This record gives sequence, C-alpha cells and structure tokens, in this order.
Amino acid sequence: MKVVLGVSGGIAAYKACELLRLFTESGHEVRVVPTREALKFVGAPTWAALSGHPVSAEVWDDVHEVPHVRIGQRADLVVVAPATADVLARAAHGLAGDLLTNTLLTARCPVVFAPAMHTEMWQHPATVANVATLRERGSVVIDPAVGRLTGADTGPGRLPDPAEIFQVCLRVLRGRPRDLAGRRVVVSAGGTREAIDPVRYIGNRSSGLQGYALARTAAARGAEVTLVAANVNLPDPAGAKVVRVESTAELREAVLAACGDADVVVMAAAVADFRPETRHDAKIKKTDGEPEAIRLAKNPDILAELGERRRSARADRGVESPGVRPEVIVGFAAETHDVIANGQAKLARKGCDLLVVNQVGEGLAFGTPDNAATVLVAGGEAVEVPFGPKEDLAAAVWDLVAARLS
Ligand code: CTP
Repeated sequence: MKVVLGVSGGIAAYKACELLRLFTESGHEVRVVPTREALKFVGAPTWAALSGHPVSAEVWDDVHEVPHVRIGQRADLVVVAPATADVLARAAHGLAGDLLTNTLLTARCPVVFAPAMHTEMWQHPATVANVATLRERGSVVIDPAVGRLTGADTGPGRLPDPAEIFQVCLRVLRGRPRDLAGRRVVVSAGGTREAIDPVRYIGNRSSGLQGYALARTAAARGAEVTLVAANVNLPDPAGAKVVRVESTAELREAVLAACGDADVVVMAAAVADFRPETRHDAKIKKTDGEPEAIRLAKNPDILAELGERRRSARADRGVESPGVRPEVIVGFAAETHDVIANGQAKLARKGCDLLVVNQVGEGLAFGTPDNAATVLVAGGEAVEVPFGPKEDLAAAVWDLVAARLS
C-alpha cells in the first residue's frame, strides 16, 4: 500500500520516525511530506534516508512530476502525525500553501490525523470546531493521549504511541475496501419540502446525516457517487457529486436523471408523501380572513417507481436480466410500530432488494449521529445493525450491496 506520512511542526515530530519504520517494515511504501516547520524539528535527510524517497515541504520541487497532485491521488492512506492545531485548521479550511495541504486536498483515500499540542490549544473552540469539521467529512481524528507534554505541563494533547497510531491506520486500511471501484451509485438524502406559499412549507425532521454517511462511505470504497440532497445543511462528502433539490418533484427528477446508468440507488431521503394541492404565489396573510384548509395531493413514490421500472424492464427482456439497472435498489423505512412486519410488507410493495428499517420516535434516528437498524434483504434474511455511528450502518449497507453486485 502507498502511504503518505504528513508530519507537521510539533516536538513530537521525532516520534513519526518510529511510525515510518513500522510502515516500511511491514511492506508499505511511504512518502513523507513534512511541513516547513516540521523540518525545524527533524531534517529532510532523516526522512529521505528512512523512507527511501525524496522529501520536500514545497510544491516547487520536481514540478515536472506534479507532486502537489500526484502524491495525494496515488495514496491509499494519508496519515498526519503529529497534526498540529495549525495543520488541522488549514486542512479544515481547505488551504493549500504547502505540499502537505495540497496532498490533503487531492487525496481521495482515507485520512487519519494524530493531533499533538498543548491542552489549551486542543481544547480551544477553534480546534474543537476544526476537528468536528474534519470528522464530519470522514477523516479519522485520533484523540490525543493524556500525559506529559513539553515542559512541565501535563494533560490531553500528547501524541499517542506510534504503535497505536499504526494500528488505527491498519484498521482504516482494512476496514475500507475499494470494493465499489468502478460502480456508479446514487444516494438521496435529507427531507423534501413542499411549498404552501413563498415562505412556508410542509417538511420533516430529516438531517441528512445517514444519507451523507452512505455517500461518503461509498466514495471512500471507490464508487462514483451522485448525492441528491434535499435541504441538507452539511458539508459535501469528499468525492461525491452533490445535486441540491427542495421538493419531491425535484428529487424525483434528479434521482431519475442520475440513475440511468447507475449500478445502485439508495433512497435514504425522507420524501414527503403529500404536497399542498395549490401553491399560493403570494404569502398568505392573516388579514386574508379565516384560514383556508390546506388540501393535499399525493406525491409520486419514487422508490416504488424505480422498482416498477426495473421489474417491467426485466419482464420485457423475458429473463431476470442482470443487465437491467440499477442492479441493487435500497430503500429506507421509518416505522414507529410493528417494525419488521411493516418493513417486510414495504420491501415487497416497493420492489427493492434491501430495506433499512429504523424505529423512529422518542429521539431515535432523526438528527442524531447514531442509529440502529434492521436491514431486510429480499429473499428473507434480516441483518441487525447494533446502535452505533451512522457510518457503521452505512458500512453494513454497502457490505450487503457489494455482496449482491455481480
Ligand atoms: N419514498 C419515495 N417516495 C415517496 C415516499 C417514500 O421514494 N413519495 C422512499 C423513501 O426514500 C424511503 C422509502 O420510500 O426509501 C420508505 O418511505 P416511507 O415514507 O417510510 O414509506 P411509505 O411508502 O410512505 O409508507 P408508510 O406511509 O406506510 O410508512
């Protein structure tokens, strides 16, 4: 595997020599990309001799090899150890003033940060926010160890043991197979809004977190991802093409347009089943008199439509043709009671291959970073995914999808 070891300017830079050795001795090819400040702690000759590759902090060396793009593009893993408050901030804001930050912007592989700094800097709201941003985008940010820091200080901020960082990196490398490479997937996320007038709408509480986790995970596993996002206020997942929509009609149009040649469609969006029959062009004023009842019209069921289109395409071909796309259709179901029975009926009714069934209500599922679910598989199997980060549920869904792709 090709590993990029980013080293930023903290006293713990010397410990990255040990991390580098662990990688090279287990057969990985390592490119070390230090920052200018890191080179004040450990010089380029040390990194070059230990890694067997040229070392520079600048984008201006070996320009004919376009290192500011190629190093990141070719990497299977980027690990930044130690990651200073400064490099976390620059990464979170997408700055590109040196070779390491250029590499972070061009890498599409998993990224691990191992921060090391004084406790005050680690706990500063700016660093806390930058770490949250990086994690939201799918990077692994290891919490620093608690212990002796430079000088007489102790507290959280110490670089974890290089062997621990190495283990985290191995888990990340193993846990994120590129089994969706070459596959096109469409994921819908968020919740649709149906306008009553120019300022009011009927909507739902979906945050989009689960759909974004699915898109991010698929991109990390190599898929070409189109994410159709309905009213989501989250940073775009790295590597996904994001199409923003508001209403169910717009979501339907965007999903159908994107799924023409898709291998997989995942309908994680909470789609409004009804819309106001008429949309007022002007804001409804309370001086208009007694409020009018809002009459509702039924929205199309996009998931059922996808299932039906595929069923009839297969019927036309006269066989269960694997050439008919999408090969795998995944639906979501939010149920408050009789979760499995309702889910089984929905799976059959909507013609999908997998149905992720969530129990909702009482603070479950909506807007929280954690989720538990049962994934019903057409043909009978039911896979329980225990309560945990939405990333874990996303990984479980893609495992089942990958197993069904021919
Ligand atoms: N869905 C859709 N179009 C709709 C409604 C829902 O594509 N108009 C999709 C959702 O994205 C989700 C699945 O269908 O993947 C389940 O939606 P849900 O609202 O739970 O199911 P309903 O068919 O509305 O059934 P019920 O109202 O009985 O719960």
